[in-house]
Amino acid sequence: MTTNITQAAVKRIQLSLKAEQFTESVIREMTRLAFKHGAVNLSQGYPDFSAPAEIKQAAREAIDADINQYAITWGAKRFRDAIAAKFQRTQGVSLDPEREITVCCGSTEAMISSMLAIINPGDEVVVFEPFYENYGPDAILSGASPKYVKLKPPQWTFDPDGLAAAFSANTKAIILNSPNNPTGKVFDRAELEQIRDLCVRWNVFAITDEIYEHMLYDGAEHISIAAIEGMRDRTITINALSKTYCVTGWRVGWAIAAPEVTASIRKVHDFLTVGAAAPLQEAGARAMEFPASYYEKLARDYAVRRERLLGILTDAGFRCFKPRGAYYIMTDISAFGFPNDFAFAKYLVEEIGVAAVPGSSFFRDPADGKSILRFTFCKKEETLAAAAAKLAKLRKG
Ligand SMILES: Cc1ncc(COP(=O)(O)O)c(C=O)c1O
Repeated sequence: MTTNITQAAVKRIQLSLKAEQFTESVIREMTRLAFKHGAVNLSQGYPDFSAPAEIKQAAREAIDADINQYAITWGAKRFRDAIAAKFQRTQGVSLDPEREITVCCGSTEAMISSMLAIINPGDEVVVFEPFYENYGPDAILSGASPKYVKLKPPQWTFDPDGLAAAFSANTKAIILNSPNNPTGKVFDRAELEQIRDLCVRWNVFAITDEIYEHMLYDGAEHISIAAIEGMRDRTITINALSKTYCVTGWRVGWAIAAPEVTASIRKVHDFLTVGAAAPLQEAGARAMEFPASYYEKLARDYAVRRERLLGILTDAGFRCFKPRGAYYIMTDISAFGFPNDFAFAKYLVEEIGVAAVPGSSFFRDPADGKSILRFTFCKKEETLAAAAAKLAKLRKG
């Protein structure tokens, strides 16, 4: 039988109600627009400078050594051992790499696999807002109902009573992201302990996205919530090679969780993707053994870029919220007099030649982000200088 599905027929067939509830990523759309208009891309968070020579060499060696077939579905042993050793070294948490780690295709897959592994109909997840835009669709796809708790500028603090009110007998998990995208907030120990108390009281998981763990400024310290007393076995820690080693295109990440939780995550992961790229996992194992000086330099270099972009944006008339971690700057655009963030982002990319992310993509209610744009500083000096030259036109216009 031949199937000739015309556009009209496709329209008649009902598509997934889940997929209908979200749009494609605004962040990735801005990158496409940046290419289209030849604009400087300060929207999507990927570096435009080289990955470390050692990690690239390790990947080439792994391919030459014919590590080109499926790795063990939950991750190559050497890589899992290296992940466990680094977590012990940096956070003091010891892990069983045989039973507590699942290597996935980026932290994106680690997050959705984890949610699919724990969520049941009727479950609620607590999400701090503004949030990394993937968490909305992750909640929809896994069937969780999000309960949002506001982070308030300029320090992006939360109201402890508001947080407590978001928890109930229906809460299955809280999603944390520290250092935080988009705000640059780094949750401190006292805040993590408040979250711990609620997780214990309501018997709730913490799913924590720690992909920016090494991008810290002004003395900020990254504390994994898994390292807070009482949280080790109720935390799913998500991380990836993507940002720390400058390889966002490699798609290698992982989820760390207690053995029973890991068993569930591994099943979901197996049938979603089978496994992450085998040779790149070997290279990842090598990268995880980099000395502390690698991470210190990474943070120092990003601190310089942060200062540079803060200066550029302030000179161009933006009010900036100085981040303590990650590599984004949230800005208040009210002074420019545009009706909303989308109108201004469109003007910037089309007329000025700089791409940024409209703030509304980080909020459930677009009105909450309508006077915000997010810029990234994970870019070369030439790129930032080109952005400075273009943004200078804003002052004149
Ligand atoms: C908070 C956060 N989590 C996850 C990701 C995606 O990570 P990966 O490339 O490892 O899937 C990003 C990318 O910008 C991010 O900002």
